[in-house]
Amino acid sequence: MSRNAHTSTPINPVLAARWSPRSFDTTATLTPADLTPAFEAARWSPSANNSQPWRFIVGFRGDETFNKIVPTLAGWNTAWMPNASAIVIATAQTAGADGTPNHYALYDLGQSVAHFSVQAQTDGLYVHQVAGTDVNALKEAFNLPAGFEAFVAIAVGKLAPADELPEPLAEREKAPRVRHELAEIVRYDAFED
Ligand SMILES: Cc1cc2nc3c(=O)[nH]c(=O)nc-3n(C[C@H](O)[C@H](O)[C@H](O)COP(=O)(O)O)c2cc1C
Repeated sequence: MSRNAHTSTPINPVLAARWSPRSFDTTATLTPADLTPAFEAARWSPSANNSQPWRFIVGFRGDETFNKIVPTLAGWNTAWMPNASAIVIATAQTAGADGTPNHYALYDLGQSVAHFSVQAQTDGLYVHQVAGTDVNALKEAFNLPAGFEAFVAIAVGKLAPADELPEPLAEREKAPRVRHELAEIVRYDAFED
């Protein structure tokens, strides 16, 4: 079942094929080496003043790090995310040692995760980011230094059939993917009053 993006013009096939599944193959395992290309892609993403504020914490299903992440998941994320082969916590340094805020840290972190996602997709892996996790609990569990914040958890793994999910997640997995029209998001003049 293809869930490719319906685009008005052809785009990079990897970007068209990327989507965020919830049905992950519970038999698939990953190693640090499997994720190295995705982390390299994240590492080489641009950032304000080349500050590279991103830091990632990686757990593989069944290991100690993974088992510390799972209890921080919230809502429906508890039903599917533990099936992923790996969960990555995306953190960023949002303030320097002297407390000076880095206003672009979150922008830079998001961009690095975008690069991560595209490389992972290229390597046959699926990625699903979630905000539904207790970021304060993650901060404490992983002893984040002063000035660092956790933002999202990222499931990584191989795709499994949608019907392996409980309802209503199985239905949502098959629902049409929707987006604003291009004309709504790209302007060539000022916003109207
Ligand atoms: C910052 C962020 C937070 C998200 N939080 C959740 C979440 O808590 N649970 C969930 O199932 N999906 C979550 N998603 C996934 C989005 O719902 C998904 O990316 C969006 O619906 C578009 O679908 P697509 O990625 O398949 O194109 C999140 C995505 C992002 C980027």
